Amino acid sequence: MVFLELIEKKKGGAALSAEEIRWLVDAYVAGEIADFQMAAWLMAVRWQGLSDEETTALTGAMTVSGITFDFADISGPKVDKHSTGGVGDKVSLILAPLAAACGCVVPMVSGRGLGHTGGTLDKLEAIPGFRTDLTAAAFRAQLTDIGVAMGAQTEDLVPADRRLYELRSLTATVDETGLITASILSKKIAEGTEVLVLDVKTGSGAFMQRLEDAHRLADRLHSVATLSGLRCSVLITDMEQPLGMAVGNALEVAESIDVLARRDPGFAGSADLETLTIELTAEMLTLSGLAPDTRAARDTVVAALDDGSALRRFTAMVERQGGDPRIVDDTGLLPQAAQSLDLAAGADGYVAHLDARLIGEAGIALGAGRTRRDTPLDPGAGLRLHVKRGQPIARDATWATLYHGPGADLERAVTKLEAAFSLVPDKPEEVHLIKERRP
Ligand code: URA
Repeated sequence: MVFLELIEKKKGGAALSAEEIRWLVDAYVAGEIADFQMAAWLMAVRWQGLSDEETTALTGAMTVSGITFDFADISGPKVDKHSTGGVGDKVSLILAPLAAACGCVVPMVSGRGLGHTGGTLDKLEAIPGFRTDLTAAAFRAQLTDIGVAMGAQTEDLVPADRRLYELRSLTATVDETGLITASILSKKIAEGTEVLVLDVKTGSGAFMQRLEDAHRLADRLHSVATLSGLRCSVLITDMEQPLGMAVGNALEVAESIDVLARRDPGFAGSADLETLTIELTAEMLTLSGLAPDTRAARDTVVAALDDGSALRRFTAMVERQGGDPRIVDDTGLLPQAAQSLDLAAGADGYVAHLDARLIGEAGIALGAGRTRRDTPLDPGAGLRLHVKRGQPIARDATWATLYHGPGADLERAVTKLEAAFSLVPDKPEEVHLIKERRP
């Protein structure tokens, strides 16, 4: 095949065959197609789009571009969750051990944070000693023994995605639903997942800020996952404000432990985090046949939180992956920032807006996130909200506490946070956390 002809074909708006797509992925991974040619093809895709059939072929070709896991010999449904990313989204830390405590096998391969959104690996690595670079053998053994493992994508898992994603991020071609869908699903299928629950975020802190774009991505993910043989459901959820109260790696681990332990962290928050985690986990149980319906699934999930089995599974995972399990009883053993600063409300009122994107950008300025892949993180940095949207606050009361080290750009963080926070005199209308479901 001649790649130039495939670029021409896509440029003209025609659909490529499954064979052509398989060939181009194989040839690119083998180094037979130059980056500049692949960049041209990606830009043609960016403008002409991919059909569901082309996206399914791309997903399949990318999945088998490296090693794939098969956990058929481990009993129990292999179930995972993926979120399109947001601010304060620490659901995976709670959901993975919780789902395992309810009978799922959760082979979770996660990513790092980039830009204003956080990444699960960075959060886990805030736990002293915790290792995410699991070998395939260690990953398998851990799933067999405790039903949950959370690790990083290795060099040989979906190498096509690793190379294509890098190129897309350098050529303004990330934001195409077919390419996003193939990137997400290929990694999930390669890690051995059979059942997948997707959390597509919408709002200022999300990848898809507008609801109609989130719809398009949700529909595409659902169709292609189904065509690829996964059992899948998709929730579209709010990311206009951060999820929970904490933003920043160690702070988010502490909040996750508080939710798992049903411990009151002293703030009237984390309710949205807990609700969404329960809903997504219940969806995992229903879809994988471990519960007859959503109501029964929710009861099972809440029981696993109440009886401590989810927390025990989290502790076992931390211990197994080299982390210090004492953090579960004493979150003070997590990395702590050197300094803190309280921000106070300028008037009495109700919180109208807590802009997730601006709060995520403030997190970067404090040292909790990165703008480049090699930016070092301060694991103790971040912020803790004291109120959420719709709640009342009195003049001079603290609405956020910032945690930072000497390298933080405090002025930038405060400017972002002041722009993120606004008050109104009357209680604003409630915004739904879960906006829609597919199917
Ligand atoms: N997350 C992914 O894994 N891939 C994309 O293309 C976008 C978000």
